[in-house]
Amino acid sequence: MNGETLSKRDLAHIWHPCSQMSEYLFGKLPLIPIKKAKGVWLYDYDGARYLDAVSSWWVNLFGHGEPRIARAIAKQSRELEHCIFAGYTHKQAIRLAERVTAIAPKGLNRVFFADNGSAAIEVAIKMAFHYFANRGENRPLAISLTNSYHGETLGALAVGDVALYKQIYAPLLIQTLQAKSPALFSQDEALADMRRILKGNEGKICAVIVEPLVQCAGDMAMYEPSYLKALRVLCDEFGVLLIADEIAVGFGRTGTMFACDQADISPDLMALSKGLTGGFLPLSLVLTSDDIYDAFCIDDYGKKSFLHSHSYTGNPIACAAANATLDIFESGDILGENAKKARYIADRLSKIAAYRVSGVRQKGMIAAFELAGVEYSRDLTIRVTREALKRGVMLRPLGKTIYIMPPYAIKKRQIDLLFDAIEDILSAL
Ligand SMILES: Cc1ncc(COP(=O)(O)O)c(C=O)c1O
Repeated sequence: MNGETLSKRDLAHIWHPCSQMSEYLFGKLPLIPIKKAKGVWLYDYDGARYLDAVSSWWVNLFGHGEPRIARAIAKQSRELEHCIFAGYTHKQAIRLAERVTAIAPKGLNRVFFADNGSAAIEVAIKMAFHYFANRGENRPLAISLTNSYHGETLGALAVGDVALYKQIYAPLLIQTLQAKSPALFSQDEALADMRRILKGNEGKICAVIVEPLVQCAGDMAMYEPSYLKALRVLCDEFGVLLIADEIAVGFGRTGTMFACDQADISPDLMALSKGLTGGFLPLSLVLTSDDIYDAFCIDDYGKKSFLHSHSYTGNPIACAAANATLDIFESGDILGENAKKARYIADRLSKIAAYRVSGVRQKGMIAAFELAGVEYSRDLTIRVTREALKRGVMLRPLGKTIYIMPPYAIKKRQIDLLFDAIEDILSAL
């Protein structure tokens, strides 16, 4: 079996996510069948390997094939692969809820399960709206930030603001409001805009939703914890809920377990997914407070109950992978080790400034910059992707933004390999 045969078989039937299929069909971009993965490496069928610089869409935490998570999954699948999660429960979910609430920002004591990031956003928005409805208030609007991304389902797209993904579906989406992002405007301007929107829509807003510190799909735009601190105060002043979408930044990506920790704030709802299972299986959680939970917990199976569900809610195998992920965090100083790696990344990143680039930036294990002096075109993105592959690196540029978000298993020499490849590409451009 070689890669070419497999990609031909693939292209005969499969429609890939976030792709223009014609780019694969006409050979503009390769479609690479992956045979196995270990640590930071993805191996293809033709003897090549690629350093997974984007943690396979930001899900992989400790490296591919992490044996402790693989073992936990194997063990759990022999015992209880799945059972309905309404009216029934299981040890893996109970342990996970106990452990996640223990490390989460203060007051997030209740856990609702879902099975992917976008589903968690749907849950959080519905919960925020429904919380006020249960108190007799109709507040149909949510505020998000410009340049935000919260997923692809209709509710998640509605609070997103990346035109590339959202624009065509605009007629299908619920109305939402966008306040200036502190990553694109000054913090003062961003807060003033948020205040203006909150004031102009008093009594109609149920929640403000943000991606704390890094707007990942929004070209890795970054902002400071002080904005989150001020936003918390603003939400309290106007009596609206704060939703932290930590789907991409949770579990240590920005240097702390949760990005909100850097601002020392507790959101009212927090969405987690991606790294939650170490990158092995889809699972998501929405954490919330006793106050919000209590507003639903009354003697009424009907309009006041939160009847949201997914068939695979609380899947025990996914929960076992999440518990194994938390075991790994407990077994060593992962964040401390990451801090050293982040310093080394900062060192290599500083050298990038010598090339035609702008906006060099970093938060923990996420680093990014823009190509300068070139016009954006899809061909440019494709060229960078191909040049990286030639050098054994899997990059996925976001427009003119080149970023890395590698698995925590990355070693110094692999960071060097990655940055050598990036510098080489920048020279070639
Ligand atoms: C911040 C954020 N929220 C939500 C999502 C959606 O998660 P999923 O792709 O699992 O639906 C993503 C995905 O990239 C994300 O980055």
